[in-house]
Amino acid sequence: MEQRVLEALIHAVGGDASRVSTGDSERDLHSRDLSAHEPRLPDVVVYPTSTVEVSRVLALAHEHHVAVTPFGAGSSLEGNALPVHGGISLDLTRMAKIKRIGADDLVAIVEPGVTRSGLSAAVGTHGLWFPVDPGADATLGGMAATNAAGTTTVRYGKMRNQVLALEAVLAGGRVIRTGTAAAKTSAGYDLTALLVGSEGTLAVITELTLRLQGIPEHTVAARMSFPELEAACTVAATAVAAGASVQRLELLDAATVAIVNAYQGTTYPETPCLFVETAGNRAAAIEDLDVVVSFGRELGATGVVIEDDPDARALLWKARHSVAYATTAASPGRRHRTTDTAVPVSELAAHAAYARDLLERTRLKGGIIGHAGDGNLHVDLMFDPACEQELAAIDEIVVLLVGDALARGGTVTGEHGVGLGKRAALAREHGDLVELYTGIKQLFDPRGIMNPGKVIP
Ligand code: LAC
Ligand code: ZN
Repeated sequence: MEQRVLEALIHAVGGDASRVSTGDSERDLHSRDLSAHEPRLPDVVVYPTSTVEVSRVLALAHEHHVAVTPFGAGSSLEGNALPVHGGISLDLTRMAKIKRIGADDLVAIVEPGVTRSGLSAAVGTHGLWFPVDPGADATLGGMAATNAAGTTTVRYGKMRNQVLALEAVLAGGRVIRTGTAAAKTSAGYDLTALLVGSEGTLAVITELTLRLQGIPEHTVAARMSFPELEAACTVAATAVAAGASVQRLELLDAATVAIVNAYQGTTYPETPCLFVETAGNRAAAIEDLDVVVSFGRELGATGVVIEDDPDARALLWKARHSVAYATTAASPGRRHRTTDTAVPVSELAAHAAYARDLLERTRLKGGIIGHAGDGNLHVDLMFDPACEQELAAIDEIVVLLVGDALARGGTVTGEHGVGLGKRAALAREHGDLVELYTGIKQLFDPRGIMNPGKVIP
């Protein structure tokens, strides 16, 4: 990058040269995420601390035709924040102020670098929490940018359901506000919803107005073992269809439970499992859990353990969230790739069986997990990056899973976003919309510098 652009960037962040880094280690930290996509170094990492600074950086980038890729916790799973065209990695983690907690309205106004756990900790004293739980302690800006979800979506919905309003900076530096703090609106095109999930390709999010939830009075969990993956999926689908109120409804296959046991020292039965959580007032939480457990028993659950103790419950969810790390630890020297497809919940059992058969046929190391209540499936695959055959086999698995999800009326990504890895898949799902996508991109970003190379097929 030219020296004069670097100097202008330093000027844009108030003359603070320590927030414009071309050092190898910082560029390296911003070259990768948790996905298997090849790292790509940015030319420079810039750490703005205010909307004004973001605006100045975007004005400069526009003027000099430099790519800008926003970066948060680096926990994305589809290469979403990799600066594939070099340029600026715009690290928003130093914009981490909670600007307002509106307990009366159940909203919070935050900067994009606040993490989900940081927000929940801050609002906890008001008896509130922020429910979207993707596992990683991601930043809320990053979670909005990818329309992230996770284990609690079955009850609370995805990020898009939580974001009432945004402040964002457009290419060229103009600051816009979308939405309001009202709980609902019918005012015009929903640009808030458009920016959520746009993965930094249209604008940089600099402030979010988010919905909060009351901490339920009582929470209770259970785990159930099943002889077959399909039975576990069918129980989940039946519970959802029956309107059972669950807060989490997670599927793990036998291989995954074994990997997690080895990693965490737990002794969960190494069979296909459902981990279930219900919450509400005490009587309702217990009754809702009973409903799901009784479906489980009817469909052959071989073991039901109620995790009533808060520590046992915490360990259960820690185990679930450790899957990616446990999978990596189980295969030293290998790399990890996770797939992400979602189908209507009634199709989950068939989709999961398809995934299992694929895994068995290719004999790749890996396991299957799912946000079963949402019909959202991940296959966690381990591969040897030096083995062409394994790389090709994994690419093929992804293509086949995408095809199966589409054939069942589902989607090519439930929550990880399109990023780099799902662009061709997006064209399979919405080929007839690509012209509209391209038109929107052109309108927002005429010079094609906002996270270029992502989303658009
Ligand atoms: C999970 C990530 C892979 O569910 O989405 O653990
Ligand atoms: Zn997930």
